[in-house]
Amino acid sequence: MMTKDRFSGKHVFIFGGNSGIGLAAAEGFAAEGAALSLTGRSKETLNKAAAKTGALALQSDMADPAASAAAINTAVEKNGPIDVLFVNAGVGGFAPIGDVTEEFWDNVHDVNLKGAFFAGKAALPHLRDGGAVVFTGSVGSQLALPGNAVYAAAKAGLRAMARTFAAELAPRKIRVNVVSPGPTETPLFYRNPGITDDAVDALRAQMREAVPLKRIGEPAEVARAVLFLSSDEASFITGVDLFVDGGSVEL
Ligand SMILES: NC(=O)c1ccc[n+]([C@@H]2O[C@H](COP(=O)([O-])OP(=O)(O)OC[C@H]3O[C@@H](n4cnc5c(N)ncnc54)[C@H](OP(=O)(O)O)[C@@H]3O)[C@@H](O)[C@H]2O)c1
Repeated sequence: MMTKDRFSGKHVFIFGGNSGIGLAAAEGFAAEGAALSLTGRSKETLNKAAAKTGALALQSDMADPAASAAAINTAVEKNGPIDVLFVNAGVGGFAPIGDVTEEFWDNVHDVNLKGAFFAGKAALPHLRDGGAVVFTGSVGSQLALPGNAVYAAAKAGLRAMARTFAAELAPRKIRVNVVSPGPTETPLFYRNPGITDDAVDALRAQMREAVPLKRIGEPAEVARAVLFLSSDEASFITGVDLFVDGGSVEL
């Protein structure tokens, strides 16, 4: 594969860069010369991500808007204005509608929608004009999957919100896009509280069958789409939702 150097001298900030898709993107950005800042809650995986990518790793909970703003400020002090913002942090959560509590709703929405909004808001004054923003959506915003009402609503809200970010930032020539993964092999699968190994295997088989390409995606496949939209190769693309899903939504 051709070696690229699309992010040399650029400051890339990732909310949720210590695991799964965010970590794969962090590795890609670092390999192409970016100065990286990334967040997450787990100190252990933050340390590992920093060791792999040379990133400034900041422990920060995206459910707390003040913490997101503090992380941005620290990163800007160290690495300067932000050229690329990747708002990726998210939590899963499956429950049939009858089992959904307000606490369940808040846990998902505080990170996936409210948290993403305030993370983006905090970064606005520090984004370099001409830069790029990518949000991680989900095919869940488009597909009617039983048990997915709360997550789907958060990701559909995020997709709608990203359009407004794109419209408001267009005068500054900042492009804003969404990358929406289909089922992707990351720890998100195992993080559902109380889920057994057998249930994870069954879920995996069910998802594989539902994807037209008959497999689950790899984090690096999603990361490549994120890097593309973050780079000058996508210089005339703003406001889109790019599905990286083996055809799940469109076929
Ligand atoms: N895997 C899939 O099949 C799939 C499909 C569609 C969409 N997505 C979306 O893809 C994104 C990345 O998920 P993933 O699959 O790569 O799962 P993952 O490996 O569990 O990664 C989630 C990332 O978000 C961070 N995060 C979660 N809650 C956070 C919080 N409150 N504050 C700060 N960081 C937080 C995690 O770090 P800490 O745990 O250390 O906080 C981690 O870096 C999410 O937005 C998810 O909804 C995933």
